Amino acid sequence: MSFGEWAFAHVYDALMSGSEKKGLADMRRDLLGGAKGEVLEIGAGTGLNLPFYGDEISGLTLAEPSKSMIGQLNRKVEQDRPGTMVLRAPAEDLPFEDNSFDTVVSTLVLCSVDDQPRALRELRRVLRPGGELLLLEHVRSSKPNIVTWQNRLNGVNQFVLQGCNLNRPTLDQALQAGFRRGAMTSGEFPESPPFIRELIIGTLVA
Ligand SMILES: C[S@@+](CC[C@H](N)C(=O)[O-])C[C@H]1O[C@@H](n2cnc3c(N)ncnc32)[C@H](O)[C@@H]1O
Repeated sequence: MSFGEWAFAHVYDALMSGSEKKGLADMRRDLLGGAKGEVLEIGAGTGLNLPFYGDEISGLTLAEPSKSMIGQLNRKVEQDRPGTMVLRAPAEDLPFEDNSFDTVVSTLVLCSVDDQPRALRELRRVLRPGGELLLLEHVRSSKPNIVTWQNRLNGVNQFVLQGCNLNRPTLDQALQAGFRRGAMTSGEFPESPPFIRELIIGTLVA
């Protein structure tokens, strides 16, 4: 485990707290209200989504590749949802049979996976046909002048935020991976600089 990975996991909640208070937590709540049946969350991080899973779900599995994040996650699971299964796995290589889940949740993760097309194919594989991918992701801007800055700053951002890319066309990639558009909207990441502001929020169907 690198120092950067350890530090990111330990400062993550503090780093996010302003955005969470200014609306991100509400976005999480709205999105996760749509989770149903057997649910897999990828890149679960420190567990900021945990308080928002409702009674519509029959089971929850949290996957996360970073050992440091898993340390934080286990602590929140103990507090908020004891007994929830936590396992160490990247989104590109999930240890589940085809068609295992009704819902997959990805919030602020597809910017950071090593191989986004492969991860999206894997999410589709583990979802049942008609199952839903609930997404909240910051993406490549629709404004060309912002994209220029996203491209310029991407390397620095990846270094500072542990592999986070600013400029990924995540929705296009998901459609190429075979997802169909469900109720999908755009939004703004609260309390963030312009190059990390544009969000896609909503549902894609497997
Ligand atoms: C910005 S954090 C988001 C954490 C959490 N999902 C949230 O909404 O607060 C990005 C997370 O993606 C995880 N991650 C990085 N590479 C990944 C991969 N290949 N597969 C799954 N998760 C990954 C990181 O370890 C980290 O927990």
